Amino acid sequence: MYRSHTCGELRSSNIGEKVTLSGWIQTIRDKGNIAWIDLRDRYGITQLVAEQGTVDDSIFEQIKTFGREFVIQVEGEVIERYSKNPEMETGDIEVRMEKITLLNASKVPPFTIEDETDGGEELRMQYRYLDLRRNPVKDKLKLRHKVSLETRKYLDSVDFMEVETPYLIKSTPEGARDFVVPSRMNPGEFYALPQSPQTFKQLLMVSGYDKYYQIVKCFRDEDLRADRQPEFTQIDCEMAFVDQEDILNTFEGLVKHLFREVRGIEFEGNFPRMDYAEAMEKYGSDKPDLRFGMEFVNLNSGAQGKGFNVFDSAEIVLGINAKGCAEYTRKQLDKLTDWVKRPQIGAKGLVYVKCNEDGTFKSSVDKFYSQEDLKEWADLAGAEKGDLLLVLSGDLDATRKQMNELRLHMGDELGLRNPNEFKPVWIMDFPLLEWDEETERYHAMHHPFTSPKKEDLDLIATDPGKVRANAYDLAMNGVELGGGSIRIHDKDLQARMFELLGFSDEEAKAQFGFLMDAFQYGAPPHGGLAFGFDRLCATMSGTDSIRDFIAFPKNNSGRDVMIDAPAPLDGQQLEELSIASVVKES
Ligand code: AMO
Repeated sequence: MYRSHTCGELRSSNIGEKVTLSGWIQTIRDKGNIAWIDLRDRYGITQLVAEQGTVDDSIFEQIKTFGREFVIQVEGEVIERYSKNPEMETGDIEVRMEKITLLNASKVPPFTIEDETDGGEELRMQYRYLDLRRNPVKDKLKLRHKVSLETRKYLDSVDFMEVETPYLIKSTPEGARDFVVPSRMNPGEFYALPQSPQTFKQLLMVSGYDKYYQIVKCFRDEDLRADRQPEFTQIDCEMAFVDQEDILNTFEGLVKHLFREVRGIEFEGNFPRMDYAEAMEKYGSDKPDLRFGMEFVNLNSGAQGKGFNVFDSAEIVLGINAKGCAEYTRKQLDKLTDWVKRPQIGAKGLVYVKCNEDGTFKSSVDKFYSQEDLKEWADLAGAEKGDLLLVLSGDLDATRKQMNELRLHMGDELGLRNPNEFKPVWIMDFPLLEWDEETERYHAMHHPFTSPKKEDLDLIATDPGKVRANAYDLAMNGVELGGGSIRIHDKDLQARMFELLGFSDEEAKAQFGFLMDAFQYGAPPHGGLAFGFDRLCATMSGTDSIRDFIAFPKNNSGRDVMIDAPAPLDGQQLEELSIASVVKES
């Protein structure tokens, strides 16, 4: 028996018991006549003690040979701790060491395995198995486990069935690039790893599994960010014989269940809903952070036609009201201007209007605008004395994007994005299509299986860009947690959609023949949604970075620095796969 208890288990009620513990040495404090060891395992830390006179002297000799992260087994008696530590769950007791067995020695770890470590990101990723011993990381994986367990409980309770779908498939068009896998048995041919199980879950609907889910890995070869990994996990769901309302209710129920069970947080009433068009107009984003206001105000009427060429030539002049910021100094405003001019944001400049306490206005464009003009802007934006208007202008889409960034930045600066506040919102009625300048054709905004709104069907022929989709996203705190749609289940409409997306009959057949065929055998009306599981976990914890919630994540270049992947293949492997590797000079 390696252990009778874990290192997080013993309490005062165990005092007097003989116990055996096994774990890793977190710290050793040796004062000569008394020595302590903090012993750690997954469950916690227990203090071990050896005091001269009460234990065999050989124990002191042994302790001198130990170091951090050695694995030991200890037998001893639970005693009351002289100076109790209310910060520790086991802080009322300690274990008097009677026998220690060294189970394994350890090299000196490359960084300290403590809550506050001295190891940088790169080093911790290289030794991720050591990083995983640290509480902050462990707590995140524990939360992830709980979220997955509660997801399964909830979905099982409402009759969902988990079905696995293959990872070696043919490319699914979901917007990103595919990761591909060469087939040895079929020379010159490749599988693609699924960007999501989209087509399979639709086939399962045709098969009659009317409530499907899967907690599943998805693979996308796209540029990485804090909330994007090349392999990530979805809670992927699909339902048949449902309309949009059934789907929203079911998954709102899931999110409420998860917050209740995992975080002890109750949401009052239904999640609010907002049209895509409204979200873009007010927040310049389809995932608005509703923890704070600072909505966009269109200043065209007050700002154009006064001789300021920058505004006159702009498609839109947008303002936000930064409450209470009129006292920003010249230096702060310059810093903000530099911030919006960074290439990542791309604004050409920033105009400000200070609403002074004496009722006057001070602006960077005083030259062109009278006090009355500036008052009009302030009124439009609902700005009062002490407030600061920030104004950007340019093309509609670009200015909205820039203003979204600035709004979030100001939200951060003013401490309005409270990590312990959660503001969900369903974004509804996405456009079905988006125009791609590069390829000069329409792309499905969600994916090609999303159904258009019935009332917009006629627009497909006349004004495709205006067609709205039965598509919805759940956003929370500025993060897109998940999204889905009601699917097309009619073969003819699906064929029309492919045509609209510029697929020839042959291309559509080659890529989706199996789905089109299946739809001829009684496809039920169906729809679904997928949550980004890693993002859900991060958002529930009030953080942005999903990497911490993944046991073995990739870095921003898509590398696993621990196992050193990706890596070249040797010649023989390439030959077996009938492929040659040619690295282009960059
Ligand atoms: P979508 O592409 O919107 O929909 O993906 C669903 C959710 O997955 C998360 N997500 C990611 N998380 C981490 N890293 C990534 N690279 C990444 N990409 C996406 C997001 C997103 O909302 N098949 C459809 C769903 C459906 O229609 O049912 C789909 O995959 O949180």
